[in-house]
Order: sequence, then C-alpha cells, then structure tokens
Amino acid sequence: MTSGKLVAKNILILHGPNLNLLGSREPDVYGSETLEEINGNLSKLATKANVSLVSFQSNSEADLISRIQQAMEDETDFIIINPAAFTHTSIALRDALSAARLPFIEVHLTNIFARETFRRESYFSSLALGVISGLGARSYYLALKYAICNC
Ligand code: DQA
Repeated sequence: MTSGKLVAKNILILHGPNLNLLGSREPDVYGSETLEEINGNLSKLATKANVSLVSFQSNSEADLISRIQQAMEDETDFIIINPAAFTHTSIALRDALSAARLPFIEVHLTNIFARETFRRESYFSSLALGVISGLGARSYYLALKYAICNC
C-alpha cells in the first residue's frame, strides 16, 4: 500500500507498558490527559469519519504480540502503535509487526530524540510508514487523521 492511496477503515491502536498510568505518570513529561481521555478522543474522530477503531493497552510484551497476530486474522488494515519502553528493547514486537505486513505509524508523546540516549534508538522506525514523536496526545490524533483521510 503506498502512502498516497492509504485510507484505512479498521484501525487498531496499541499502547505499550505504563501508558495506562497517563495523567498521573510524570505529567510534566507525558502530559495530563489520561489514556481513557485519549482513547475517547480517538474514538470520536473515528466515529466522525465512519471508521472502526479498537484500542488496546498492555503492560505485557506477549499480549501485545498476540494482539498483533490477531490483527492478521481480523479486518485490521492499519495500526497506530506507541510501543512505550518496548520501543527501545523489543525485537519480538518488531518481528510481529513485520510478520503482520500491515502499515503502521509509530507514535510517542515525547520527543524520544531529545531525551536520554537509550531512548533515541527505536526497533520500529525503520519498518514504520511514519513516526510522530513529541507532540503529546496530538501525536496519536495526527496519526489517526493521516490514517483515515491521508490528510
Ligand atoms: C514513550 C517514550 C518511551 O521512551 C517511554 O518508555 C514511554 C513513552 C512516549 O510516548 O513518549 O513509556 O513511548
């Protein structure tokens, strides 16, 4: 699928470890929006665009991998993923996305390139259709906007 023709209809949003704590987790770094609020805003955008959206958060690498494998069997045609700390560690999660062969956008609330050295490496970026990093919750909203209307 070329990015020029991309218009997704069944989108899976994946949130990695500790993102369930958004709102109370280091709000000076990650912002004050809770994951529930972010998912709610994403759902509203998707409903407006008549697109099906499922959000899934897990602190477990295995569960995230299983969810990606499930996406290979269902109607999912696009993934937006914030792998959180697994960004910097998980070849297994990268391999799952590679096997799924579904286009995906990697998102981060923070600018991982402007933080500690260990956050500057991502196992996902070289496979991703695009990377949005550092715009807070808007990183997710912009990724979704791109997926649903390529705009
Ligand atoms: C993060 C950045 C990661 O380095 C960190 O481990 C996270 C969140 C972000 O969204 O900025 O948990 O992915």
